[in-house]
Amino acid sequence: MLGRILKRFRPVPPTLNSLEAYKRWAASYPPHAHNPLMQAEQQAMLDLLPDMQGKLALDLACGTGRYSRLAAERGASVIIGMDNSAAMLKRSQRRRLVLADAGAIPLASSSVDVVFCGLALGHLPRLAPPLYEISRVLKPGGCALVSDFHPLLALNGGRRTFTTPNGQTYAVEHHTHLYSDYHQAARLVGLHVADVLEPRADHPSAPAGWPVAIIFRFEKNG
Ligand SMILES: C[S@@+](CC[C@H](N)C(=O)[O-])C[C@H]1O[C@@H](n2cnc3c(N)ncnc32)[C@H](O)[C@@H]1O
Repeated sequence: MLGRILKRFRPVPPTLNSLEAYKRWAASYPPHAHNPLMQAEQQAMLDLLPDMQGKLALDLACGTGRYSRLAAERGASVIIGMDNSAAMLKRSQRRRLVLADAGAIPLASSSVDVVFCGLALGHLPRLAPPLYEISRVLKPGGCALVSDFHPLLALNGGRRTFTTPNGQTYAVEHHTHLYSDYHQAARLVGLHVADVLEPRADHPSAPAGWPVAIIFRFEKNG
């Protein structure tokens, strides 16, 4: 019991905004799922994935390119990686990388078959701008797979943290978006919630059995 209370009140390390955090984290941020939360999140994203053969995919907030690689392995013909962190893009091995904010995607309307957006929207204060842009660039009938750090973890004091080579630990700015926030924002921009998964995994802020991530499959109304 005491252990659980102490866990709950773990001090939060200094918090950096997303740009500053990923500038410092990029050098050690691998392009694959590197902890149990990401492994569970990735499996859920793949469970909701449509057929990717010949598709044009946008990996929004691609970081070092995890979902770009997975889309390529599944047959996507064109994959565009986009992120607002130059440091993260520099670490990606992918071609076709664009430095851009998720709230202003520099692509034509109705040009993309599938959007991936992995574990990023929690860094943005508002869901409507990126979801509006995702909806705009999707072709009618296209879909978006969007994952986030589970709101229960954030409300339970959980943070995304990393430690620099000199031993300093930081938390990354996080904004808690509830299921209802996603649902409402999606509806406003013409996206339909086709599926939702909440996978479980070990995490210091997740009592046994709690979900650690939330994954949406949004479809653009045809
Ligand atoms: C936790 S990382 C995830 C990276 C990758 N999607 C993955 O799942 O491996 C979050 C990424 O979101 C990016 N990001 C945060 N805010 C963003 C914004 N407003 N526009 C574009 N990218 C953003 C960060 O730079 C970082 O690369």
